[in-house]
Amino acid sequence: MDAISVIRAKRDGGRLSDGQIDWIIDAYTRGEVDPEQMSALAMAIFLNGMDRAEIARWTAAMIASGERMDFSSLPRPTADKHSTGGVGDKITLPLAPLVAACGAAVPQLSGRGLGHTGGTLDKLESIPGWRALLSNDEMMDVLREVGSVICAAGDGLAPADKKLYALRDVTGTVESIPLIASSIMSKKIAEGTGSLVLDVKVGSGAFMKDIDAARELATTMVGLGTDHGVRTVALLTDMSTPLGRTAGNALEVRESVEVLAGGGPADVVELTLALAREMLDAAGLPDADPAKALADGSAMDHWRRMIAAQGGDPDAELPVARERQVVPAAADGVLTRLDAYAVGVAAWRLGAGRARKEDPVQAGAGIEIHAKPGERVTAGQPLLTLHTDTPEKFDYALQALDGAVDYAPADTEFSASPIVLERIA
Ligand code: URA
Repeated sequence: MDAISVIRAKRDGGRLSDGQIDWIIDAYTRGEVDPEQMSALAMAIFLNGMDRAEIARWTAAMIASGERMDFSSLPRPTADKHSTGGVGDKITLPLAPLVAACGAAVPQLSGRGLGHTGGTLDKLESIPGWRALLSNDEMMDVLREVGSVICAAGDGLAPADKKLYALRDVTGTVESIPLIASSIMSKKIAEGTGSLVLDVKVGSGAFMKDIDAARELATTMVGLGTDHGVRTVALLTDMSTPLGRTAGNALEVRESVEVLAGGGPADVVELTLALAREMLDAAGLPDADPAKALADGSAMDHWRRMIAAQGGDPDAELPVARERQVVPAAADGVLTRLDAYAVGVAAWRLGAGRARKEDPVQAGAGIEIHAKPGERVTAGQPLLTLHTDTPEKFDYALQALDGAVDYAPADTEFSASPIVLERIA
């Protein structure tokens, strides 16, 4: 077999055989297929797509490129959640300990932020001492002792995806449904969870800007999970405006702790509970009551133990940025739009995110949101507060926010979009 014939087959609109898929993924992982050739194939897939059987085989080949974890020795059923990424999406932080408090084991392998979307590991690293890198044995120990763990995926898990994702990132081939679905699901299936809830974001701050594309991605991923014996459900959720009232690492940890303490923004609480119910249901624990676990402090107790088990101090002061700038509301009225993508780019420019994988992030940087769509404001009242250690970035962040906010007269009837738009099982 040779790479050129595989590239030509997809370039000319054909379908790849099982043998071609198995060979190219294996040869690429071992370094026998050059990155230039894999880039060409990724672009051909981007342009010509793959059918269901090709996606399934491609996913299986990526799983087979590395190790598979096994949680069958744990005394609890496993449940995991994956979000396709958005702005202010801190849900994993309260969700993992909450679901653990309700009786499931949550092996949450998470990622770092790239571009305008934040990453769970970057957020948690703002807690002094907390470690994202755990060995497989350490991960199992935390799962056994606490019930939830949030950590980085080891290098052994779906290494073909790790190489391919880095290549897609620099060749304009990320936004392809077959490639996204196989990338996400190969890691989740290799991780060995028994059940999986997918939070597929829709809107300006998400990969998928429209609901039809999000539905197709969700349906493809649910099919892949189910075929591999993982009970998989997807929620399509709104990402036209940021989740909660913060975007940025330490700012989002603070807000997550408020949720675990029984407070926090209504949209974050609603989505956390909706995902928790789906995870518990998929894990075979439909009678567990996540609202009670939030109210009675048991979710908070699990959070504190999880942070401490990974070296963090749950009582430590979180970092704050050195400088702040308030952005006032420009008009009286009701806020009808606060664009998620613009807020994500502005937070990123303030230092909360990174442009390249090796860049550092500022723990205290980001944006506080004082009013959300549906709320009434008066001209001049604080709308946003920008936080950064590098105040020379304020203007650059403000440019991203230009045109990000719409207002309507104060007597306009306006209701914000629901958080959960659709469920796919
Ligand atoms: N997240 C992934 O893990 N892979 C993709 O392709 C896109 C988002």
